[in-house]
Amino acid sequence: MKRIPIATLLFALACSPAARAQKKPAPTADQKMKQYVDALMAKMTQEEKIGQLNLVSVGFDVTGPVVSQGVDANIRKGNVGGVFNTYTPVAVHKLQEMAIKESRLHIPLMFGYDVIHGHRTIFPIALGLAASWDLKAIEQSARVAAEESAADGLHWVFSPMVDIARDARWGRISEGAGEDPYLGSRVAEAMVRGYQGPGNDLTKPNTVMACLKHFALYGAAEAGRDYNTTDMSRQRMYNEYLPPYRAAIEAGVGSVMSSFNDINGTPATANKWLMTDLLRKQWNFQGFVCTDYTAIPEMMEHGMGTAEQVSALALNAGIDQDMVGEEFLKYAAQNIKSGAVPAAQVDAACRRILEAKYKLGLFQDPYRNVSPERASSTLMKPEFIAAARDISRRSLVLLKNERSALPLKKTGSIALIGPLANRQRDVIGSWSGAGDWKQAVSVEQGLRAAAPSLKITYAKGSNITDDQQLIDRLQAYGGELDIDKRSPEELIKEAVQVAEKADVVVAVVGESQGMSGEAASRADIGLPGQQLALLKALKATGKPLVLVLMNGRPLAIGWENQNADAILETWFAGTQAGNAIADVLFGDYNPSGKITATFPQVVGQIPLYYNHKSTGRPYTGTKLDKYKSRYLDVSNEPLYPFGFGLSYTTFTYGKPTLSKATIGPAETLTVSVPVQNTGTMDGEEVAQLYIRDMVGSTSRPVQELKGFQKVMLKKGENKTLTFRLAPDDLKFYNNDLKFVAEPGDFQVMVGGNSRDVQLVPFKLTAK
Ligand code: BGC
Repeated sequence: MKRIPIATLLFALACSPAARAQKKPAPTADQKMKQYVDALMAKMTQEEKIGQLNLVSVGFDVTGPVVSQGVDANIRKGNVGGVFNTYTPVAVHKLQEMAIKESRLHIPLMFGYDVIHGHRTIFPIALGLAASWDLKAIEQSARVAAEESAADGLHWVFSPMVDIARDARWGRISEGAGEDPYLGSRVAEAMVRGYQGPGNDLTKPNTVMACLKHFALYGAAEAGRDYNTTDMSRQRMYNEYLPPYRAAIEAGVGSVMSSFNDINGTPATANKWLMTDLLRKQWNFQGFVCTDYTAIPEMMEHGMGTAEQVSALALNAGIDQDMVGEEFLKYAAQNIKSGAVPAAQVDAACRRILEAKYKLGLFQDPYRNVSPERASSTLMKPEFIAAARDISRRSLVLLKNERSALPLKKTGSIALIGPLANRQRDVIGSWSGAGDWKQAVSVEQGLRAAAPSLKITYAKGSNITDDQQLIDRLQAYGGELDIDKRSPEELIKEAVQVAEKADVVVAVVGESQGMSGEAASRADIGLPGQQLALLKALKATGKPLVLVLMNGRPLAIGWENQNADAILETWFAGTQAGNAIADVLFGDYNPSGKITATFPQVVGQIPLYYNHKSTGRPYTGTKLDKYKSRYLDVSNEPLYPFGFGLSYTTFTYGKPTLSKATIGPAETLTVSVPVQNTGTMDGEEVAQLYIRDMVGSTSRPVQELKGFQKVMLKKGENKTLTFRLAPDDLKFYNNDLKFVAEPGDFQVMVGGNSRDVQLVPFKLTAK
């Protein structure tokens, strides 16, 4: 018998059809998705493809002047890709069934909603969440929101909003993490992780797809007026405004929303450089981009052309889905016909929308396992409420505490004064769409529940505002203000009488929820209406004066800071606000929040932010120094600096030490700093690390946050904290937009806020 060499035998076996079939690697998840979408798109008409690019609003909330019409007929025709503002298993089921059963190709709809700081269980507004500096808590707030919104039939949430904001006049500063790109990036990642769950596996029915917004630079609106122009250098964009968007993309966010503003002359929604070159080519974003509300037709007002032209501009820029505008529905086909838009552009957009649906598992189960039973056992369940209370108290910031005004005793008497003291509606803030304010806890309810033996007497003291025009404007858009018809004098008189009989005055003052958020810019950021007059009258009683502030932005509160004994910043702290505030006021929780947006002394200092550049004439504080960069009438300092917040205990920082005084470009520097709790209570401290690049090819900020740690220290306890500065932490985008570290002198600064830091120099070498 002829002997066949073993190698030949193995080769023959390996080439057999069976072996070939075996060896062929299994398709990856991406390949499977592509095959699925290819097959589906092969069946679609051009009209049906364009239909997927249409996102309509059905339901309760409207944030712009236009609402979607003829939705049922459009769903049946396959003219709708997604729906927002509809939730609850029953409502979602109804529309989904229409698409699945009555449209030709049975393509499921995708349901989105503005789940911004919680869905049914409402957490503090984003500016408050960020003030916790607690990434685990922030992630948990998004996880709870995902569990609830998914159980309520939603697939997609219009969050996180990561726009850097340095202008407290802008009402939407309340919706983001504040002024810092480093903190903003970490918060963005935490939110994406919370919504999309571990590994971004959106097929899990308790996840939702996140939508990063508003891309881009929406927070830099000129004069803090909403929707206004932005104009900025690429260097500033790359170094200061873009990092949080990029961090969310790298964390795997599934979708992006374009912003309303124009950027250096081109509206974001028509901006090909932004949507295609930067987002997709440089950052490799694989998801889809929807517009913000009617951003496409609004481009006619921007002066970009006719409806047909702006529709083409948006598609060609790389926008995939048109929210409410219906400009793709109306004009995409004729734009393809005329050659203004390549058909491939519509195909690409349609593919991205279908891929999102595929990633969400909607082709397997278009209902994602929702049912009224699942909803009722999930929404506002006790663990979620407990999480809300815990996260709320972590977000509160103690701005002042003298004469041991706080914590309050649970005995004796307090005068509880102020237009916000008994408000349930206001504590859940704006953008609390599905939240039921009747289930929220007001400050009065929280205090009474926590201290049943304390005598609490309430008087309103003033309205939020007495300006009828402002009242009308707020009421027209769900302001739900409670306006007392008595005169300001009568209200103040009653409050003073109540105050005179109490041991302590607790005044709950600030903004109504509708005074911050979208389309809620303010040119004067002091306490509105007669509230300051009320505080002055209360101060005159000589009683200890504790302020509880509610507001969605930094306020200019110079008088208040000078005259109140204690000030607790509570933002709009959510469903459990009153309980969380009571926990802090009575010392059952030691406050640990720190502000993430600078509070100015007066509005005229804006924009005011800690990570500014130095001028050639920095003011160093010598009175007669005329030709320096300063104002004649106010110092350059903020009222409260970025990162500032007090505790009922005190923390003392030792001198930071470095692992090396000189490092090479690939080395990591270790910074160690001892921190001691030198007060009389256990407490948490947010230790912050900043750097300054002393000399650069471009001027560099005087300080940049590069690390932080929130640590619990028992009273008397001393811990040495270790921070690591990796090579990338020293890099920045230079004039050629290259991300480089430049050798030379640096400073590292560590402290409990951006002002009170200790400095240590180090050097970076070229090799
Ligand atoms: C807002 C977005 C929001 C959208 C949908 C717009 O007016 O700018 O933040 O997601 O409406 O409600």
